[in-house]
Amino acid sequence: MGETIIPLADLRYAAAVPRVPRDAPAPDGLLADRLGRPLHDLRISVTDRCNFRCSYCMPKEVFDRDYKFLPHASLLSFEEITRVARVFIAHGVAKLRLTGGEPLLRKHLEVLVAQLAALRTRDGAPLDITLTTNGSLLARKAQVLREAGLKRVTVSLDALDDAIFRRMNDVDFPVAEVLRGVDAALAAGLAPVKMNMVVKRGTNEQEIVPLARHVRERYGRDVVLRFIEYMDVGATNGWRMDEVLPSDDVRTLLQRHFPLEPLEPNAIGETAERWRYADGGGEVGFISSVTKAFCRDCNRARLSTEGKLFTCLFASRGHDLRALLRGQRPDGTPYSDADIAAAVGALWRERDDRYSELRSAGAAAAGSGERRVEMHYIGG
Ligand code: GTP
Ligand code: 5AD
Ligand code: SF4
Ligand code: SF4
Repeated sequence: MGETIIPLADLRYAAAVPRVPRDAPAPDGLLADRLGRPLHDLRISVTDRCNFRCSYCMPKEVFDRDYKFLPHASLLSFEEITRVARVFIAHGVAKLRLTGGEPLLRKHLEVLVAQLAALRTRDGAPLDITLTTNGSLLARKAQVLREAGLKRVTVSLDALDDAIFRRMNDVDFPVAEVLRGVDAALAAGLAPVKMNMVVKRGTNEQEIVPLARHVRERYGRDVVLRFIEYMDVGATNGWRMDEVLPSDDVRTLLQRHFPLEPLEPNAIGETAERWRYADGGGEVGFISSVTKAFCRDCNRARLSTEGKLFTCLFASRGHDLRALLRGQRPDGTPYSDADIAAAVGALWRERDDRYSELRSAGAAAAGSGERRVEMHYIGG
């Protein structure tokens, strides 16, 4: 009696139940990790499923019909997610990003957005609530998400050429439908929309200039295109350094067609370096996690679909917050928000992750040898 059966899929990444320190100070929004970095941004994965099979993220050979995605009972409920968000906000989080897999596959996501939108930062301000999506379902969902309180959206698009894009998403999904999603987001008032293009040398580098031109001409300042260096995230994409096209090369290529000028960062810890077209045609960004690591100011925590906290995109181990949400103290009473806040505070104070920096430095310590989490599981 009382034996807990842990579904197999839950065991894919090690996750310890966090320690709940007694007599921890109440959250004051001033939490800092071992490298002095605050906690500002919580990325919440709402599903590990996706309707695309981008080779750099969910290669078809691995994520096939037999792959065991998380069972429904493992997922955090919307109430549980909102509770975790509240705890993080007490520690100073002001920005929430919903990710996946593909977050729009989670049913009634707008209900979660509405619950999160009702929260306030420590200063009483509304939160910055945003979403990273592949755009495939956005045309249908943009309006209702906006009405629920979503502030912004980031859409992934790796090519303008339909054949190249269909090959890269590997489910034959057309470009036009993603662009319809972008249009719907803009019509719903979610401007400016960010667009993410993962650049893989030998696969889609020829799409850099055409996509930039198309975005400039069709959307102007309403869409900010960002070029992402192909990363060695996870363990299934067969990453090779010679497939990375450094951001400096992407920018040099763009500059030949459209002169660019650097812009100041919008915020500390931002992933993208910002540039603007000299002719006023809008803005572009470069996310250079391979050639110019940005760990120094990394203020992002990640919550997996079944409630594990990861303090780095390249972590192998999570911290099982769900065990606290659903479990009991030794005396049989449920854990309080203060308990969970104390546990999160202790974890963040211990944090010293800087995977990308260590990788750039060629340090063997960059990898612990354990299997790293997959991007579809933890979001971008
Ligand atoms: P906003 O600019 O505020 O909209 O957020 P963002 O730039 O963080 O947006 P997004 O979530 O779209 O992140 C862009 C991409 O940067 C992700 O898809 C990842 O590829 C990469 N990225 C985001 N956060 C990290 C991080 O902490 N470490 C590394 N190495 N890469 C990251
Ligand atoms: N390298 C860089 N970016 C990646 N993404 C997914 N996998 C990788 C990778 N290996 C991007 C997606 C999306 C965001 C969530 O992360 O294209 O824009
Ligand atoms: Fe592609 Fe995003 Fe789906 Fe990964 S989660 S397969 S990057 S669409
Ligand atoms: Fe943050 Fe880890 Fe990315 Fe560095 S590698 S920026 S520490 S998530």
